[in-house]
Amino acid sequence: MGHFVIRGGRPLSGVVPISGAKNAALPACVASLLTEEQVIIDHVPHLRDVSTILSTISSLGKRVVRDENSVSIAGGEDLRSEAQALFVEQMRASFLVLGPLVARLGRAVVPLPGGCRIGARPVDLHLFGLRKLGAQVSEGETSVTLVANRLRGARINLPFPSVGATEQIAMSATLAVGETVIENAAWEPEVMDLVALLTKMGAEIEYRNGSLYIQGTTGLHGARHAVIPDRMEAGTHLIASAITGGAVTVQPVIPEHLRSLLSLLAQAGCDIDEDDDAITLAMTGRPRPINTITAPYPGFPTDLQPPFVALLSLAKGESIVEERIFENRFSYTSALRMMGARIDVRKRKAVITGVDELHATAASAPDIRAGAALVLAALAAKGESTIDNLEQIDRGYERMARKLHGVGGEIERVS
Ligand code: UD1
Repeated sequence: MGHFVIRGGRPLSGVVPISGAKNAALPACVASLLTEEQVIIDHVPHLRDVSTILSTISSLGKRVVRDENSVSIAGGEDLRSEAQALFVEQMRASFLVLGPLVARLGRAVVPLPGGCRIGARPVDLHLFGLRKLGAQVSEGETSVTLVANRLRGARINLPFPSVGATEQIAMSATLAVGETVIENAAWEPEVMDLVALLTKMGAEIEYRNGSLYIQGTTGLHGARHAVIPDRMEAGTHLIASAITGGAVTVQPVIPEHLRSLLSLLAQAGCDIDEDDDAITLAMTGRPRPINTITAPYPGFPTDLQPPFVALLSLAKGESIVEERIFENRFSYTSALRMMGARIDVRKRKAVITGVDELHATAASAPDIRAGAALVLAALAAKGESTIDNLEQIDRGYERMARKLHGVGGEIERVS
């Protein structure tokens, strides 16, 4: 897989092209299981997680053709009802095939996702919703089996607006009899992008006041859909601009999707300029300290917490960041401490005492976003750092080294 060699200390400047959103592309690919007709998805990023979902879907009997940034998914007259463990182990999002399979076939067997470095991440809310839709659920040691003659619409009140559970239940409910209401539904832009695709496929779905209303139909048809720009990739590159004291434009983006981050970056002293589909961030000097918490959309997203903490490690003063979405998402701070950052983690809170400068290190990317945080810290640090375990970064960032190099970052991928 190789490693990155990064010589830090150079301000980034220029335009970073933003790819389609990974977290929108993954459920979009899964939604193709709901029809035999052709679904074409555009702006699909070249990422390991996307390859994993496409392998999952083709192993279930779909014909998948990839062409540049588009994916065509069709067929599946004899769809298989059992997903392979390999794929769900590699990526939790593969678990999303469960509901669509049971909705189409009346039966599905899907391995349970294992533990993960960012907390336990159970699937109880997915199963709670599918049970409410009338599926009989048998949980085994390593997999779950669902059986249902035909799913039936229901009122489902989610105790927490889980992104995955909302997507799982919404997809399944499109083929149920009658109306489903998902109360306290997640409405992250990626969830709403899935809703847009399902609507193009003939589903009737509406989001009103925190709930999704889905009228079930007997079948969906093919559609073509371009996924939204990746707000996490865009946010990461904006923070890269801030941490290096640079001036970077990200494009295309939907600025509204990044509102919470932009407001925090402005409070930290960044100069931000917005266009319809671009954002430019310029920064001089050290950031001001910030206190914030991660929260469901439109709150500050947990996926940008690690890169933002990297930035705050250079702030003039003490910041507090509280992680409210995942239990264990500060483990990467030990690598930042090795770079000279002063970060004290107390349960779900990180207390960050800003330092003048970071120094180079050799570290391993623990997961996608933590890996990005270490890359950003290395771009700001004095000296030459190496970051390995790039398969984690490759799961979620398309051509990261090339994009950073394009705006003047001294970063090289060595295989
Ligand atoms: C998705 C995103 C991920 C992002 C997260 C939160 C994808 C592919 N991934 O993950 O990048 O960090 O949203 O915005 O879109 N939970 C339960 N029971 C469940 C489901 C979730 O307790 O059945 C908990 C999780 O353990 C976690 C929290 O809810 O603490 C958030 O999870 P969820 O919103 O479901 O995130 P994902 O869909 O896994």
